[in-house]
This record gives sequence, structure tokens and C-alpha cells, in this order.
Amino acid sequence: MSKSLFRTKKIESVIADGGVDSHGEVGGGLKRVLTLKDLTFFGIAAILGAGSFSSLGGAVFHGGPGVVILFIITAIACAFTAFCYSEFASRIPVAGSAYTYAYASFGELFAWIIGWALIMEYSIGNIYVAYSWSDYFTSFLQKINIHIPQYLCTSYMEVKNSLALGSSNAELKDAWNNAPIIGGLRIIFDLPALVINVLITFLVYRGIKESRNFSNLMVILKMMVVALVIFVGGYLVFSKGLTFNWIPADDNGVKSFMPNGFSGVMAAVSGVFFAYIGFDAVSVLAEESKNPQRDLPRGMIYSLVICTVVYILLSMVLSGAVNYRKFDGIGDPLAFIFEEQNLNVPWMQFFVAIAAVVAMTSVMLVFQMGQPRIWMSMSRDGLMPPIFQKIHSKYKTPSFATVVTGLVVGLPILFTDKTFVLDFTSIATLFAFVLVCGGVLLIPRKERQQNKFHLPYINGQFIFPLIVVVAILSAKVLNANYFSGMINFDFSQNPEYTSGKFSFMDLATPNITLIIFWLTAVVLSFITFLKKYSLIPLMGLITCLYLLTGMTKSNWAWFLAWLAIGLVIYLLYGYKKSKLAV
Ligand code: ALA
Repeated sequence: MSKSLFRTKKIESVIADGGVDSHGEVGGGLKRVLTLKDLTFFGIAAILGAGSFSSLGGAVFHGGPGVVILFIITAIACAFTAFCYSEFASRIPVAGSAYTYAYASFGELFAWIIGWALIMEYSIGNIYVAYSWSDYFTSFLQKINIHIPQYLCTSYMEVKNSLALGSSNAELKDAWNNAPIIGGLRIIFDLPALVINVLITFLVYRGIKESRNFSNLMVILKMMVVALVIFVGGYLVFSKGLTFNWIPADDNGVKSFMPNGFSGVMAAVSGVFFAYIGFDAVSVLAEESKNPQRDLPRGMIYSLVICTVVYILLSMVLSGAVNYRKFDGIGDPLAFIFEEQNLNVPWMQFFVAIAAVVAMTSVMLVFQMGQPRIWMSMSRDGLMPPIFQKIHSKYKTPSFATVVTGLVVGLPILFTDKTFVLDFTSIATLFAFVLVCGGVLLIPRKERQQNKFHLPYINGQFIFPLIVVVAILSAKVLNANYFSGMINFDFSQNPEYTSGKFSFMDLATPNITLIIFWLTAVVLSFITFLKKYSLIPLMGLITCLYLLTGMTKSNWAWFLAWLAIGLVIYLLYGYKKSKLAV
């Protein structure tokens, strides 16, 4: 059995099944209509959304202006990972993303695990986006004097948890006190989040071409408004002489770019990483792309570069416009900086609200398109029931899988909250990225072919161990207690601890994830020295592993529980029904 758990699918048969020439089904598969421009737009559509419009506020609150460093580290991790995705996407140009790649490199069990983790990236991530969409949409309606009752635009868990923690937020209290009660249960739910999910599901069901046109239009709109925020906000930061906000005073009155230290910056990792999720979604469109081998890698990297520049500028504008502490609990930071008590530009608030709604609609669209296509691949392999590969005869979309995705996003909207889904999504996606980078290390190098993307091979034999040694020495020089502190980690220094976000598990010492990270780095150095691994996937692997150290222990507990459930399902269904089992 242990051998068959790691059975791998040959790259040739992945391609044959995926339908590079045939389209998976007799008489009709997915339509090949997407160009490089479309793919880049799709990337931006997926990346630029709730992360920049919503979770950026929390990130600046935790890390101060120094959060820009985390944006750069995360961009580097994502760029290395994008190269690895590109290598895979160019060799295996079929839908399925990291799932398909893992099948060809690590084997079936890991492929299933990734497919299972990707549900969190694509579906659970969309729950966060739907909540944020609702926040901006309702505040936009308020600006034009349309008021939805608070109990119909807030999630039940958010109200309950926040009030239990003693929140004095008037809107949450309003929701709790005025909600109708049926059978002893307060009826509180986020109606706009549910409605947008139904609309997006309908659009994706109707077809890729319609979705593409809509998506391209939304990308242009949101890029224009984001550029406006950067120009107007940036101009006002300088003209009003607010640049002192870039070096604010910490609790002890000491001025610093990182007022909560580096641990404060790392506490923002879920929000920052979430902002980058999406470049990989481009890879699931392989079967709808005109020239996947040439265009997928470029589309991913172009969109990543554009969004990185945007994030760096946006975080500088935000942390310059207002003192970082003011972002506590702010869910609409880009509009917030233009409020009366801040930069005071009312018309910008209006524009930003519209752009945010547009931006988040496009993110939801891309992810809601991605999830059914991953399930379709899993179904082709026998790991999910055959109905998931059913393609609609008229619309040419994976119809059943699309409807199930709508349900997987829609139902939890009734009983989760923003923080929970944000953490859950980020940890699972980082995990998937680690496996993709690791997978590239394991596939054999190939002859160069014209018009195809090839990951440049840089021998990591000496460079990688050197980087690890320099990193260890730098950590020691920058903070003499860095390594001893790992053993006796003081979580009370972490700003999230005081805000009540940590659970009791997070108070335990030592900091296990950081210890595992450094041990892995050292072991990987030895293996690389012996096996001459390629530097780019190695760097992707190590930077993603580093970002994982920012996750709390309770995040890990939830994530591991989710993986355990997935494993049971695999053993009961996929293991037996797999096409490789016969
Ligand atoms: N990166 C995407 C967003 O920020 C998921 O909405």
C-alpha cells in the first residue's frame, strides 16, 4: 500500500488526459480563447482585491510602515514560486494547477493533499473576498443613502466573537440588538456576500468568454482607481508634510520604521500573503489558453510584478497618510485615509468604494473559475466522482463543479468570520506553494525547446549553503538573542497577542515553526551540496517555508485537522477509485 500511495502519473499521460489535442470529452471540451494579455489581466484580476483593499489596513497596523519589507519578502517568495509554477505549467499545460504538478512529481497522495489544500485557497479564500466585498458595497450604499440593516450585512460569528471580546463597535452592537430572533437564534448573516456569490457562480456557469470580457473591464477600472489612490494620496503625503508618519514612535517613544519590531511585521503575514494569492490561478486556465506553454509563465510573472509595485506604493501611501495605529480594525483602509479626519478628500472615498467593489468582484470571478477546473482534473484521475468533469453542452464550462463551488463558498458565509478564513486560506496556499517548489526540484531537467519557458538552472551546490550561513550569521548579528529567543519565545511582545487573536496554544514555547524552519534550511543545504539542486526552486521553497513561520499554532492546528479529514476521504474514496489503481 505504501508504494501505491506514492504512485505518480507520467507527464505524458497527464497531458494526454488533460486534452492538449483532444479536449477531454468527445464532441467538446473547454474553449481555447485566452491570449497573453488575457492571462496577465486574469492574474491581476485575481491578485488585486481584498488583500489591498481590505487586509492591508490590518497589515499596516501590525507592522507599521515596515510592513513594506514583508511585501518585498513575500513578493520574492511568490516570484520564485511563479517560476516554479511556470516550469510546471509549460511542461504540463493542462488545468489543475499545483494539484496536477504534484501528481507528476510527488505522487498521488501528495497530489490529493494539494488538491484538498487548494480548496482553501480558491473557495475559502473567496469567502474572505465576499465578506470584504460586502463591507465596501454596504458602505458605498450608505454614501448614496441606502441603508441595509446591520444584521443583514455582518457575519454572525464576527458579531458574536467581537462582542464576547468586549468590542464597543456600534455597528456590531446594532446588529446583535436589532436582529430578529427565530427559535431562540438571532438571525444575523451577510446578505450581500451571499448575493455576490450567487451572481458570480451564475457568470462562471455561463461561460469563459463572457467571464473574460467582464474580467478585463474590471481590471482596467480597478487599476485606474488604484493609480489614483497612489497619486492623490502620495501627493498629499508630501504636500501636507506627513512623511514623519514613515518613522512613527513606538510604545517607548522611540522612532522606528518598524514600531512593533520584526515580529510585528511578521504578524501581518496572513494578510500580506493573501494579497499576493492569485498569480497561480493563471495556471488553471491552461486548457483555455491559446498558447499555454509560452503565455502561462509570462502571464503569471507580468501580473506578479505589476501587483508588487502597486503594493509597495500603496503601503507607503497608507502608512504615510495616517499614523499606523489608526488602522486598528479598519476594513476599508484605502477609503479610510481620505476621510475627513485624515486626508479629507470625500470624492476619493466614493471612487475607492466603487473600485473596491469592482476589484473584489474580479477576484471572486477568477477563483470561482479556478476551483471547478481543479476538481475537473481530480475527477479525470478518479480521485473525485465522475460528475465533476461534466462539461456543459452549450456553455462548455464544468457545470456541476461550478455549482458545487458556489455552495462551498456560499454556505460557510453563514457561519465563519473574516479572520478565520483569512488565516486558513493563507496557510493552505503557502503549503501548496512549498510543495510546488519542492516538486520542481524533483522533476528531471529537460532539453531546451524553442518557444517554451525553461527555468534557468543555477547550480545551488555552493550558493545555497552560503545563503543559509549568511542568513544565520545576519540573524545573530541583527539580534544577539535571536536563536535563544526561539527557544523561549515571548508572545506577549506580539501585537496580536494583546488584541486577543492568539489562542492559548500560541502561548506555548518554544517557537516550534521557527526551529523547524532553521533545521530544514540546514538539512536542505547538505542535500543541495550533494545533489546540486537548482537554486530557483530552492529559494522558492525556503522563502515560502519562512513565511509559514509567521502562522500561529492555532492556524496550524486547524490546517492539520483539515488535512486529516482530507486524508480519510482519500483513503475511503480516491485511493480505490483512482485511475492508477486499475
Ligand atoms: N489576492 C487576492 C485578494 O487580495 C486573493 O483578494
